[in-house]
Amino acid sequence: MSATIFVLNGPNLNLLGQRRPEVYGYTTLHDIELMVRERAALHGFDIEFMQSNHEGVLVDEIQRARTRGAAIIINPAAYTHTSVALHDALEAAELPVVEVHLSNVHRREEFRHHSYVSPQATAVIAGAGAYGYVMAVDFLAQHLESE
Ligand code: DQA
Repeated sequence: MSATIFVLNGPNLNLLGQRRPEVYGYTTLHDIELMVRERAALHGFDIEFMQSNHEGVLVDEIQRARTRGAAIIINPAAYTHTSVALHDALEAAELPVVEVHLSNVHRREEFRHHSYVSPQATAVIAGAGAYGYVMAVDFLAQHLESE
């Protein structure tokens, strides 16, 4: 059985392509899912891809990844800056985690500069747009191999 990477997306990311395209781009979440699946297939990974606007649903999914996944790619969106629950769930998962942001959060408002997720992340990618998700898959391919 091949390793599964869980790709989790937080609130409002279902609106990608329509919401503030000058910040987040015109690529939709569905486009990102296709890009991720294509890249993962090259490396022989399976992908579980989901989005939720609800914090508890994301916690449930991290707990599923804990027992079934090899790694997590997460764009926690606004929960990045607020969620101790996601921090704790990722800590409990004990998996490699890549935190992805489409925008460079450090160039934006002050409240986006702090992340509750980063202390649990193996790597953080911000500002590379949708390509950041592809970079995350490539990173995990070499990281899981070296583990
Ligand atoms: C985001 C950045 C967050 O600050 C914001 O709340 C989002 C998207 C990004 O991908 O750039 O919803 O995570």
